[in-house]
Amino acid sequence: MNTHESSHLDEVRSLIDQLSRYQRAYYVDNQPLVSDTEYDRLFDRLQDLESRYPSLRFPDSPTQRVGSDLDATFPEVQHTIPVLSLDKVYADSELLSWIERTETKVSRDLGIVIEEKIDGISIVLYYEEGYLVRAVTRGNGTIGNDVTANVKTIASVPLHLSEPVTVAVRGEVYLPKDKFETLNSLMEVPYANPRNLAAGTIRRIKSSEVAKVPLQIFVYEGFWDGETEIKDHLSILSKLVHYGFRVNPNFGYFTKSAERAKAQLKEANLDGIGGSYEDIANYIQHHTNRRSSLGYEIDGLVAKVNELEVRIQLGYTAHHPRWAMAYKFESPQAQTTLLSIDLQVGRTGRVTPVARVKPVKVAGSTISNITLHNQDYINMLELAIGDVVEISRRGDVIPAVERVIEKNEDSEGVYTMDPFCPVCGTGLVQKGAHTFCPNPQCPAQVRGRIEFFISKGGMDIDNFGPETAAVLIEQGVLQDIPDIYRIDYRKVLGELSGFGEKKILLLEKGVEESKKRSFTQVLISLGIPELGKKGAQILIESGLDSMEKLLDVAKRQDVERLTSIKQIGEKSAKLYIDALNDPAMLERIAALASFGLAMEEKEDAHALVNESFSGQVWCVTGSFEHFNPRSKAMDEVLKRGGRTVSAVTSKTTHLLAGSGGGSKLKKAQEIGITIVDEPTFLAMLDKGEKKQEEIQGEFSF
Ligand code: IVH
Repeated sequence: MNTHESSHLDEVRSLIDQLSRYQRAYYVDNQPLVSDTEYDRLFDRLQDLESRYPSLRFPDSPTQRVGSDLDATFPEVQHTIPVLSLDKVYADSELLSWIERTETKVSRDLGIVIEEKIDGISIVLYYEEGYLVRAVTRGNGTIGNDVTANVKTIASVPLHLSEPVTVAVRGEVYLPKDKFETLNSLMEVPYANPRNLAAGTIRRIKSSEVAKVPLQIFVYEGFWDGETEIKDHLSILSKLVHYGFRVNPNFGYFTKSAERAKAQLKEANLDGIGGSYEDIANYIQHHTNRRSSLGYEIDGLVAKVNELEVRIQLGYTAHHPRWAMAYKFESPQAQTTLLSIDLQVGRTGRVTPVARVKPVKVAGSTISNITLHNQDYINMLELAIGDVVEISRRGDVIPAVERVIEKNEDSEGVYTMDPFCPVCGTGLVQKGAHTFCPNPQCPAQVRGRIEFFISKGGMDIDNFGPETAAVLIEQGVLQDIPDIYRIDYRKVLGELSGFGEKKILLLEKGVEESKKRSFTQVLISLGIPELGKKGAQILIESGLDSMEKLLDVAKRQDVERLTSIKQIGEKSAKLYIDALNDPAMLERIAALASFGLAMEEKEDAHALVNESFSGQVWCVTGSFEHFNPRSKAMDEVLKRGGRTVSAVTSKTTHLLAGSGGGSKLKKAQEIGITIVDEPTFLAMLDKGEKKQEEIQGEFSF
């Protein structure tokens, strides 16, 4: 350290102390001591000094929490304390009888602490002489992963304790429910629950990314190096608070007499609820009820013997301490075995790993397939074939693999996706979090595209289901979407069993009818990535209401024209543009246009302009100067509350006759219905509008 540096040493240390105190007040105690501006001013000053004098960059500086962009690895490290899990019961009666049994075993009165069982990631924080030196995941209980850089970004984890102690502290890193909702809504692949998101975050390669996720921690156990004066769990908790940790204040302490419990809590300077054994059942009930109103997820309660000498006396089994017991809430969860993982190729080429599990009933239905989203998700769960897994269905949601309960000892390790498309064998490519088959001719993609096009969410073609599509693909006549409008169904299907005359007729009708679908529907049905109903409507409302306009934007690579629309982000904009520049897509669109599918949005055909044609039934014949195609004239009738028909009958009230109207005109003359020419029609439209204005005028004051 040179003289410059040492002259700033005091200031740097004092800034670190000050800022650490402010951070603790804000994140742990929930009681800010200074304004944000004052905090930022000091923080900036510290950052400035540290960048000028790198030797003054201390590991406990609050600036170290912002994380780094450097890739981290998570080396395996040996725990110096056994990181065991808990034995569990599912009924309060079982928990009470465990307490009774334990008391009998040691033949003395006990204090029992009941804490919330936080549903997060188990972490051990190792401190040496008061400094955080390592944060390690639970791993298999003996060896875990060193995730120190990432854990340091959690603002409520003290980097430096109030005493220079060497201690291992166990806690649970979690993501508050509200933060989970917000973050998850922005995710490409949403997580099933806050715990999975937190687990994924803690294993992020860049700690700067971790710093963006507002993770939290509650700590609940301390293991000191050497002798301490600490004799019970209440003292552990109060010591942890004193060191600067965030300890969950929602706990209860129970002894034979409520008075004694309260007195002990007071002595330890803790806020928990004190009661007698008789109060335990009530306490459990109360906690179970208010679970959903907590800001974080808990999956049960943990009962612990308070006296440390009794803990020593009771000892451990190979898996868990005999002095603690988890009481788990019932939840729609089940255990099953992962049999295999299949790769499914969707219409966009995205390859999704799907878990095949031994069928098991969860919340009323049998689950055998569960999506695993992508490789990252599998890595996060550390999933291997043969593992026993916990699966869930919270509410009505799709089933999810929650975690591995028991590793398959003989497995080949975490499952990794094959690098080739399981359907066409093409080498897979990675785009962001997902893996894709880049071959647009891949049979899985062809099939997916066609199935989507004909489906309810697409063109909704009547009498044309996926089975029919499969037959046609099999016959080799259905290779891409436009073939739907080219196929001679009678010829192809007439000979096949299962396709009678009537069925073919209905199919042909369905295909023909589908040509009348709106441009919005055509646009959606093309299967452009991320362009669903909402996206199509947004584009059209913004004025991009025809294929011509959209293709023009795409051709000019005009990302900005799209991102200038509020709801469209850069990512979607680029996806749209890429898709609309794809030669296969252009060919498809041209073919569909040639078959008469809508390539522009008719200005709101259904919105009523006025009611001037109400009760009238119009037929249109011939060609027109102003209405080309003549369906435009029909739209005008509809917009004024009239009905349109394709043939003149006795019910028809008006015939709009353009030049060259033949048989319909003759029939209308015969029946004697009103025949209207184009100028008259225009005048009628105009008059209806005027009338409307008058009416509105009457009401406007
Ligand atoms: S005590 C030896 N207390 O639940 C001490 N655990 O299966 C054992 N957990 O792995 C842990 N909240 O990750 C304890 N208040 C709490 C807890 C808690 C959550 C987790 C912990 C542990 C698992 C038990």
